[in-house]
Amino acid sequence: METNKEFATLILPEKDPIRIPVITDNMGAKSIDIHSLRKDTGYITYDPGFVNTGSCTSGICYVNGEQGILRYRGYDIEDLVENCDFVEVAYLLIKGELPNTTERRRYAELLNKESLLHHDMQSFFRSYPFKAHPMSVLAAMSVSLSAFYPEMDDIDPELQVDLAVTRLVSKVRTIIAFIYRHMKGEDFVNPSYKYSYCENFLNMMFKSSVIEYQINPLYVKALNQLLILHADHEQNCSTTAVRLIGSSDANLYASVSAGICALWGPKHGGANQAVIEMLEFAHEQKMSAQDIVNKAKQKDSGFLLMGFGHRVYKTYDPRAKIAKRLCQEVLAESGETDPLLELAMELEEVAVNDSYFKERSLYPNVDFYTGLIFRRIGIPTNMFTCMFAMGRLPGWIAHWLEWNKDPYGKIGRPRQVYSGPYIRKVQSLNDR
Ligand code: CMC
Repeated sequence: METNKEFATLILPEKDPIRIPVITDNMGAKSIDIHSLRKDTGYITYDPGFVNTGSCTSGICYVNGEQGILRYRGYDIEDLVENCDFVEVAYLLIKGELPNTTERRRYAELLNKESLLHHDMQSFFRSYPFKAHPMSVLAAMSVSLSAFYPEMDDIDPELQVDLAVTRLVSKVRTIIAFIYRHMKGEDFVNPSYKYSYCENFLNMMFKSSVIEYQINPLYVKALNQLLILHADHEQNCSTTAVRLIGSSDANLYASVSAGICALWGPKHGGANQAVIEMLEFAHEQKMSAQDIVNKAKQKDSGFLLMGFGHRVYKTYDPRAKIAKRLCQEVLAESGETDPLLELAMELEEVAVNDSYFKERSLYPNVDFYTGLIFRRIGIPTNMFTCMFAMGRLPGWIAHWLEWNKDPYGKIGRPRQVYSGPYIRKVQSLNDR
C-alpha cells in the first residue's frame, strides 16, 4: 500500500485549499485519506450507508464488484471451492495461510476436541419455544459461550485467543444442530471423533435411532462448498458489526453474536430464507417468472426480487455462479425435477434481460440458489441463515483478530449530520 505520494486538493468555503493524501491499495484502487479532516477543517463527510467509506485497511478478502472477482487471502473463490474443504478455508482466513498436512490434521483434531457443548448450556435450549426463530437462539447461545468459557476476558496470551477461536468455530456448528433437534423435540446427538466437520454436522442434525441415516457424500461436498462460499465478504453489514463491537474491546463471542444479529435481516443473510419463501409463494399462486419480475419493478409494491442485487457486485456474483452449478448437481442426483429450481432459473433469465434490472445492474447474488441446496439437504427454511452464519464465522473471526492487531485501530464512532431542533425549553406537564 502506498501513502502520501499523491494528494487531492479540497477547496472549502472561506478556507485555503487543503491537500489530502491519496492512498493506493495493493490492487491499484485509490482512496482519499480524510482521517484528520475534521481536526484540520471542522468539516466531516456525509455518507449514509457507508457507500463510499473505507473503515479500515484489511488483507483478508478482495472483492471486485465490477469484474465479479472474490478472493480470500489472494486465492480465487473458484480455486478454493474446487481444491479445499471448509476447515482448510477457515484456517486460511483465520491464520493467513492454507494449512499443510500436519497443520490440517491437528486443526481438525482440535475442532473435534472442542466440539462438545457444556452440559449446563444444553439445558438452555429447553427454555426456548419450539417455534423460536433459530437465529435468535443462535445469537443468544453464541454470546453465552463467553459466560461458560470466559478466558477471553484476558485476551493477552495468544494461546487463549487461539483456543477461543477454535471453540467458536466448532461449537457454533454443534449449537446449530442442537437448535434443530430442539425444534423437532428430539434428543441431541453429540459430535463424534469419527467424522469430518461437515459429516459431523449432518450426523448431529439427522441421525435417528429409528431410521438409518447414511451421510450422503454429495451433501458433504455441497455443504463444504456452500460454507466456503459464505466464509467472508470483506466489510459487509455483519462483519462491520463484528468489527464495530470488537472496537470497544468487547470479547470475541459478544462481537460474533452481534454479527449474527446483523446477518439475520432479509436484506443480508436472511435473504436465503426470503428467496425460498418467495419461490414457494409464487409457485403456490401459480405466478409466472414475468409476474414476479413485474411486481419487483413496482416501487409501491414494497416487494423486491429476493436474491437479486448487491451493494458491491454490479455484475454476476461469482458465488451465485458456483451455487447455481452446485444446485443443479445436487438436485440432479435424485433424478427428479424441482419446480422451484425451474422457476428460479426462469426468473433469472427474465430478470437479467429486463431493462429495469439491466439499468440498475441487478444480478443474482449468493442467496439466490443456495436455499434450494439447503432445502434438498433437509435443512428447514428458517435455518438457512444459521447455515450462512456457520459459513461466515471464520470471516468474522479473521476480521476481529485483524482489528485487534491493527496499530491504527480506534473505537468505531461515526459522526452525524444533526437534523433535530436547535434548542427547546421544557414546559411544565400541565402546559404540554
Ligand atoms: N429487486 C428490485 N429492485 C431492486 C432490488 C431487488 N432485489 N435490489 C435493488 N433494487 C433497486 C432499488 O429499488 C433501487 O432502485 P432506484 O434506483 O430506482 O431507487 C436500485 O435497484 C439500487 O438499489 P439500492 O437499494 O440502492 O442498492 P443497495 O446497494 O442499497 O442494496 C441490496 C443492495 C442487496 C440490499 C438490495 O439489492 C436488496 O435489497 N436485494 C434483495 C435482498 C437480497 O437479496 N439480499 C442479499 C444480498 S447478498 C448477500 C448478503 O449480503 O447477505
